[in-house]
Amino acid sequence: MAGRLEGRSALVTGGASGIGAATTRTFAREGARVMIADVQDELGEQIAKELGDAVVYQHVDVRKEDDIAAAIDRADTEFGGLDTLFANAGIVGTYGPVDELKIEEWDFTFAVNLRGVVLCMKHAARVMKPRGRGSILSTSSIAGLQGGLGPHAYAAGKTALIGLTRNIAAELAPHGIRVNCIAPGNMATEMIAGMLLRDPSKVAEIEQGLAAGSPLPGRPGVAQDIANAALYLASDEAGYVSGHTLVVDAGFTSVHASGASGLFANSGPMFREAGQRGLPDDAVE
Ligand SMILES: NC(=O)c1ccc[n+]([C@@H]2O[C@H](COP(=O)([O-])OP(=O)(O)OC[C@H]3O[C@@H](n4cnc5c(N)ncnc54)[C@H](O)[C@@H]3O)[C@@H](O)[C@H]2O)c1
Repeated sequence: MAGRLEGRSALVTGGASGIGAATTRTFAREGARVMIADVQDELGEQIAKELGDAVVYQHVDVRKEDDIAAAIDRADTEFGGLDTLFANAGIVGTYGPVDELKIEEWDFTFAVNLRGVVLCMKHAARVMKPRGRGSILSTSSIAGLQGGLGPHAYAAGKTALIGLTRNIAAELAPHGIRVNCIAPGNMATEMIAGMLLRDPSKVAEIEQGLAAGSPLPGRPGVAQDIANAALYLASDEAGYVSGHTLVVDAGFTSVHASGASGLFANSGPMFREAGQRGLPDDAVE
């Protein structure tokens, strides 16, 4: 059976780890040729080797426009056109109270999480426009949807990605290019293991911890959940979806903490006009 991305091509930034690595494996399994673009050369090369001829690695620091332009040109030439860009590379970046903000660390965080993404979009659009088709994806976060779910620079950059997605979708729609982003909840990846346990290899421990606190008890968020969302958005199944932020968080940001066990989960008579309960007599057959 043909894969969902048979004959397609993709470039995945941050493809050497976590969500990007899971997406690279998924896209390759579904028939796409994939370029991993990352700064972790050893890990990226290793995944490319493991997945065979369909996957190549290229060193790209998304803070550098020349690196991005060269990778996009290489993917466009070697793959005979670029179908999907997944601008996924990101860092936690600077954190701490706003009154202690170090602006050079803020700038570094933005250089990766926002400037790096828009530069990837710029060069992807450059090669996609003449072909009249393409799919551009990026990774926002639930920290871009609600306050207090990430450090300030991270949250501001991820919020901006949602607006950027809508705006660039508006511009590129006439060129047949769809632009979407994904807002993951807390996913067990090297990033979270590195941040919480100071050891990026402890993804299994993080997974256990997330399972315990998950809105879906016992079901942690994992990198594959986001890879599945990226696969959908990259595929023809999402051919009429653009400008959208796909939230993948088990309902964390859409369900109030009291929602499942609160007042409205208990059974009782229907409420109608003030103080009246149940169906009126004339509604009863
Ligand atoms: N894990 C989560 O809970 C979570 C939640 C919301 C959003 N996200 C976002 O998902 C994306 C992927 O995160 P992850 O959890 O897989 O983390 P990760 O650390 O496992 O992967 C991120 C990858 O980005 C690469 N990268 C970092 N700086 C780079 C640069 N300057 N140039 C090129 N590559 C660079 C890293 O080397 C790494 O391979 C990020 O944008 C992150 O903000 C993650």
